[in-house]
Order: sequence, then C-alpha cells, then structure tokens
Amino acid sequence: MTDTQNALVWISGASSGIGAALAACVPWAGARVIDISRRGAPGLEHLEADLADPASWEAVAVSFAQELAAFAGDRVVFVHAAGTIDPVGFAAEVESDAYQRNVLLNAASPQVLGQAFLAAASGRPGRRHLVLMTSGAANNVYRGWSSYGAAKAAVDRWVRTAGAEQNERGGVQVVAVAPGTVDTAMQRMIRETSADAFPQRQKFVDLHEGGELSDPVDVATRMWALLDAGLANGSVVDLRDLPG
Ligand SMILES: NC(=O)c1ccc[n+]([C@@H]2O[C@H](COP(=O)([O-])OP(=O)(O)OC[C@H]3O[C@@H](n4cnc5c(N)ncnc54)[C@H](OP(=O)(O)O)[C@@H]3O)[C@@H](O)[C@H]2O)c1
Repeated sequence: MTDTQNALVWISGASSGIGAALAACVPWAGARVIDISRRGAPGLEHLEADLADPASWEAVAVSFAQELAAFAGDRVVFVHAAGTIDPVGFAAEVESDAYQRNVLLNAASPQVLGQAFLAAASGRPGRRHLVLMTSGAANNVYRGWSSYGAAKAAVDRWVRTAGAEQNERGGVQVVAVAPGTVDTAMQRMIRETSADAFPQRQKFVDLHEGGELSDPVDVATRMWALLDAGLANGSVVDLRDLPG
C-alpha cells in the first residue's frame, strides 16, 4: 500500500457505462480500483470474470477475502455495476441459455457476491460500502424485461434485508441505487430492439432523441457522493428522487 492508498474499490462492469464512469471519478486520491468484467478497461487493474457463470464467483470472493485481509486503509467499497438487459423479449420467446445467463448475472450474482463481500468486510474497522444497482424496472412492468425486472426487485429486497442486518451488526453500509435513464451501451441496445420484443421501446427512443438521458459521469459523481450522505442502511434510492 502506498501512503495515499487509503481506499480499496472493486467495481464490477467498469469496462463500460456507469461502471467505467465510476472508475473514472473515484473520489479518493490514490485509491486502488479493481474492475471485475470480461473485457477489462485500459489503465484499470482487471479481475477477469464472466459473472453470468457461477464458476467465476469464487475467484471474486477470494479477491475480497485476500485483499481485505492485507488492507490497512480506511475505505473499502464494492459497487456491483455489471448487468445486462439481454435477451430482450417475452419470456416464452427468448433463447433459454441467454435467459439463464441474465438470471444468473442480474439476480443471483448480486446476492452471492454481495454476501461474499459482507463476509470479508463485516466487523472490520473503517468505512465499508456495498452498492448494488437497481432500476425503475423493479417496480414497473416492462414487457420484454421479465428477468431483468425480477432481478432488480430481488436486489431491492436483498439490500433492504442485508442492510438491516448490517445495521444490527457488521457495520457495512448496504445500498441500492437506481441511476435513472443513463446514456450507455445498455440504453443503445434497448433502442435497437424491436417493438415486438419490447413494446415500450419508443419511450426510450423518445428519451434519447429528447436529450433526456443522463450522462454516466454525472450519475457516477452523484453515486459516490451518496456514500457519505448519511443514508440509512438498507436504503434503495432513485437518483431522480434526490436533489442535485
Ligand atoms: N443505463 C441505464 O439507463 C440503467 C438504468 C437502470 C439501471 N442500470 C444498471 O446499471 C448497471 C450498469 O449498466 P450500464 O448501463 O452501465 O450498462 P453497460 O454500459 O452495458 O455496461 C454493462 C457492464 O456490465 C458488464 N457485464 C455484462 N455482462 C457481464 C458478465 N457476464 N460478466 C461480467 N461483467 C459483465 C460489462 O462488462 P464486460 O462486457 O466487459 O463483461 C459492462 O462493463 C446495470 O446493473 C444496469 O442494470 C442502468
């Protein structure tokens, strides 16, 4: 650890979109940032993992345990930003393997990797944060997004429960953040799907054409600021409901 390396940050999905923006504007000088993704990102330490494959999860858990055991700094963070909207389409009509990967990445990996992070970080001194990504899709019916919406609803329940537990003992802050509609590859994919597969597609085309997508760096900056904003443990917040 260098003198200035006072923060250790894992970001899944830092190769694109919101995760990449989070990595680009980490607010702690000298922080060590580890990207967990398939592609990796220039200049970022990379833990290569296909998180839709449960066989990859153990290596992430080992990274949490080993790095935390050796870390003496003050701030530890895991933001699980990796996610996918693919395959977009009605549950009865999409390809089963892709559907299974969606469920494993979006619904199962937040719980399993979140639990692994808590196991490594609970009871340690210093500030510790677990941030999961949620979505308005947790609370609304979007035809064509059944597994995505179900996964985000699961994330919300998991965060509320694990946050209440950590409030009682463990001391890790657990929150879920819905970022709004953000200008990333995921939004591009939504616009590129057919209205047959995703009947509400036009809403997202209109948001894009109206210049109403949020900038990923603005979103990332606001997300980092939330960590010291005194949120109750187990909070599920939507950036669109917050000032600023
Ligand atoms: N954009 C929005 O409007 C919006 C709205 C609500 C919620 N969200 C949530 O915000 C998060 C980030 O979304 P985004 O818009 O930034 O998406 P994005 O630009 O498509 O980026 C997705 C990231 O997830 C990673 N990922 C996808 N599949 C993976 C796999 N199998 N294994 C490991 N990593 C994988 C990708 O890395 P590799 O391809 O390199 O593996 C990439 O870095 C997601 O959880 C999403 O649900 C986004």
